[in-house]
Parts: sequence; C-alpha cells; structure tokens
Amino acid sequence: MTTTAPAAPTAPMTTDRPEHHVIVLFGATGDLARRKLLPGLFHLAKAGLLPEDYRIVGSAPAQYALSDEEFRRHAEDAVREFGLAEPTGASWQAFEDRLSFGAADPEDPQPLLTAVRAAEQAIGGSPRRLCHLAVPPAAFTSVIGMLGDTGLARDTRVIIEKPFGTDLASARALNETVHAVFDESQVFRIDHFLGKESVDNILALRFANGLFEPVWNREHISHVEIDVPETIGIEGRAAFFEETGTYRDMIVTHLFQVLGIVAMEPPASLSAQPLRDEKAKVFNALEPLDPAAVVRGQYDGYRAEPGVDPNSQTETFIALRAQVDNRRWSGVPFYLRSGKSMAKRRQTVTLHFKKPPRRMFPDDAHDGPGAERGNALVIDFDDPGWISARFLTKEPGPAMRLGAAEMTFRYADSFRRRHGLEGYERLLLDAMLGDQSLFTRSDSIERLWEISGGLLAHPRPVEPYAPGSWGPGSIDGLIAPHHWYLPDDE
Ligand code: BG6
Repeated sequence: MTTTAPAAPTAPMTTDRPEHHVIVLFGATGDLARRKLLPGLFHLAKAGLLPEDYRIVGSAPAQYALSDEEFRRHAEDAVREFGLAEPTGASWQAFEDRLSFGAADPEDPQPLLTAVRAAEQAIGGSPRRLCHLAVPPAAFTSVIGMLGDTGLARDTRVIIEKPFGTDLASARALNETVHAVFDESQVFRIDHFLGKESVDNILALRFANGLFEPVWNREHISHVEIDVPETIGIEGRAAFFEETGTYRDMIVTHLFQVLGIVAMEPPASLSAQPLRDEKAKVFNALEPLDPAAVVRGQYDGYRAEPGVDPNSQTETFIALRAQVDNRRWSGVPFYLRSGKSMAKRRQTVTLHFKKPPRRMFPDDAHDGPGAERGNALVIDFDDPGWISARFLTKEPGPAMRLGAAEMTFRYADSFRRRHGLEGYERLLLDAMLGDQSLFTRSDSIERLWEISGGLLAHPRPVEPYAPGSWGPGSIDGLIAPHHWYLPDDE
C-alpha cells in the first residue's frame, strides 16, 4: 500500500532570500567543490535561492591557482558531470559571470584579497561574506589563521568541513583556533546529513504528528538501527581514508548526528539554540562507547589499494552498539553500521517496536528470527527518501493467520522533485541566512569525541570482510538476539 500526499504546492519554495553575498570557496579545485559545492551553488542560483547579487571567489594554494577563465571552465565541467541541470543558457551565463579566482597561501594571500575586493566592489554597498573551508583537516588551522591575519574573518561567516578533529584533544585545539578568530555565532560546522530532506523530516514526523511521538520511547521501542552501508570503495581517497577510517568519517559525524535527531526531546522551537540544546542533551546522555561492543572491519583488497599501508589497521567498516542513558531511552540499544564496498547503498533508520502478547495467534509465523519485522518504522533518508510502517495483518482466508504488511510514503511520489535541495545546498543556503540550526556546535562535537575515547585508545583489530557483503560475520553477535534488518526498497 502506498500513501499519497496532498497536491504539491506550485509556488516557488518559500524561504527568505539571503542578503548580497561574496562566497569564498577555499579548496575550489578539490573533490568536494567539484562534486557538491559548485553544482549545488548553480542549482541554488537556478532555483532563485541565491542572493539577488552575489559573487563566488574560488581559492586554492598558489600551486593550484587557476585564472578566472579556467575556474569558470572547471565549474562548468563540475556542473555538467555532477549537477542536476545542464550548464547552459542564460542562467548559466549569469552564474559563470559571477565566478572569479584568487589564490591564497598564508605567506601570500594577496591574489585572494584582490579578488574578494573586486567582487565586493562589483556588488557595491556592504555585501555579506561567507567563507567555505572545503580543505583537508590539516589545512584548517592555517586557513583560519590567514582569515584572521588578513582581516577577512571580520563580519564573515565560516563553514568548516568535517571531520572536526580526530579525537577530543584535537577537536578542543581546533575549537580554540577557531574561537581565537571567530565568535561561535559566525561558525557553521557542516555535516551534510543534517541537510538531507528526510533527516530534517524526522523532526516533522515526530513533532508535528500525534501518531508517532507517544510510542517513541523505551516503553514501546525495543531497539533502533541506523544503517548506512555504501557500495563505493575509497574512490582514490587513500590518504584521507588511511588517516580517518569509517568511525571518524561516518559515525562520529553523520550517524551520531542522525541519532541526535532521532533521540532528542521536543525542542521549544526549531530555532538554533533550543534545537542544538536538545541534541547536546542526547550526546551528554550517550554512554562512553565500549570497545567490546564495536566491530571494526576492513574489506579484502583494501591494503592493496594505491596509497594504503600494506599492514593498515584502518577500518573501512564499523558496527557498534550505543546506549542513550536517559528516561526515554534507557535500555534501548542503538545499533549503528556503516562501511565501504558493501552489498548495497542504503541510508536508513529503523525503529523496532516491542512485540505485544499474541497468545490468541497460536500459529504466529513471525516468531523466531525476523520476529521484529512485524512492527517497525523505517525511515530511508537517502534522496529522495521514504518512510514505511511495517506491521502484521490478517492474511485473507478463513483462518486467522498473520502476514506482514506495510504502508509506505515516498517523497518521489508525493512532492515535486524540483522543490528538493541536496544536503549541501540546503546548508549553504542556511549559512547565508545565518541559521545555525542544522550545524554542529563545539560542545556537542567535543562530547562525541569524549565518548569515543576508549574506542580510539583501544581499537580491536580489524576483521576482514568480502567486498559486496554486509561486513564481518561477527556483527550478528553484536546485535543478537535481534537481527540486522534492511528492508528492500522494492
Ligand atoms: C562523506 C564521507 O562525508 O559522506 C564519504 O566522507 C561518504 O566517505 C559520504 O561516502 C556519503 O554521503 P552521501 O552524500 O552519499 O550521503
């Protein structure tokens, strides 16, 4: 059974339009800018969501410097390869005309300063400035220092990419570096999972309906899975991945953020402070991770990838049990899993409900393995996303036999795609509007590193798994007596 939503709105997306902006893209020649940021900015421009006037100044160290014209071709190629819309016509021309490039090294920021000044003068008045640090973590400190030294940090908002630190000490040090130059109100630590439409929708699902919230707790839920298997490998990112691993790349950033939204108490409002306060309370209630409740995996063949240490102990897969020790969740385990080179790409949250007494259904076929399939709420938060309620129903016929049934809501069926923004697009827009609600806060990040301390200090050896599988076999013991459950998106 499939549900449908009311007729989709025909008006353009209603949201405030940001003030005039100069957007400075550090790491403009890098992978993230090519795959997400440049295509995303063009999509925002086409959707009429960028400021009425804006300029985008690409930047990179001098050794990667491009001319303005080269940067425009670079952006055009990126949009053609990764964008939703072709880089053609008047809208592309208008976008391309607003691109320029200024190289910057800490010892020579002059080309960037000149380009920013020219962009500001072209707009006139006092446009806002947004700096996006799409640079490797090792470069954060020097770029932030340069923004401080050159005065570019003044009245600027700054987007900082993940991973924010690699442990508690480095996250604290990075926060100190950031706060030496920026006030926290200027800082937008980005986690693009928080910009995903269906993650944001968890707030609507929970708090705008009377249907779900009353059962969203330990009285009714037996366990929760947050599952993000990926089919891709490390895609040539050996240097980054060897240093980072799946725990830092996916769990401590993306999956814990999703957990925060799933587990939080209702905030007084959706504005930044109450929303982030409630998420912080969840993280404060997270018990320190027990290394014995973590399975680290590495896919066969990883050590032979170019740039990977032949004895690498970096995990390309991780599954773990987390506990939120508060009134709502005490005793309800949260199972998190993510890995590269796995059987399928999925991004799901599954809430499994406790089984009611079913004495009157003596031939209940759903006892034993898979029993929890009877009652689950599945939220698929990959774009475009769907939500499915799984329950038991009477099979037609003279006997009272139970069969599995589901009701599914699909974004793609119910709302027009053109209204959707990708995670990065939504968050770029929010940063221009100065809305920090969906960005991570320094105290929360530090808390997540704090509960990771034991695991990072005493990681268990990685266990091998076959590419295209669901990870090492020992993950079944981790979740027992339950079972990893990924419903098919049929
Ligand atoms: C990134 C990670 O932050 O998120 C990648 O560095 C991962 O390793 C990616 O593949 C997943 O994002 P998406 O957009 O596919 O949901």
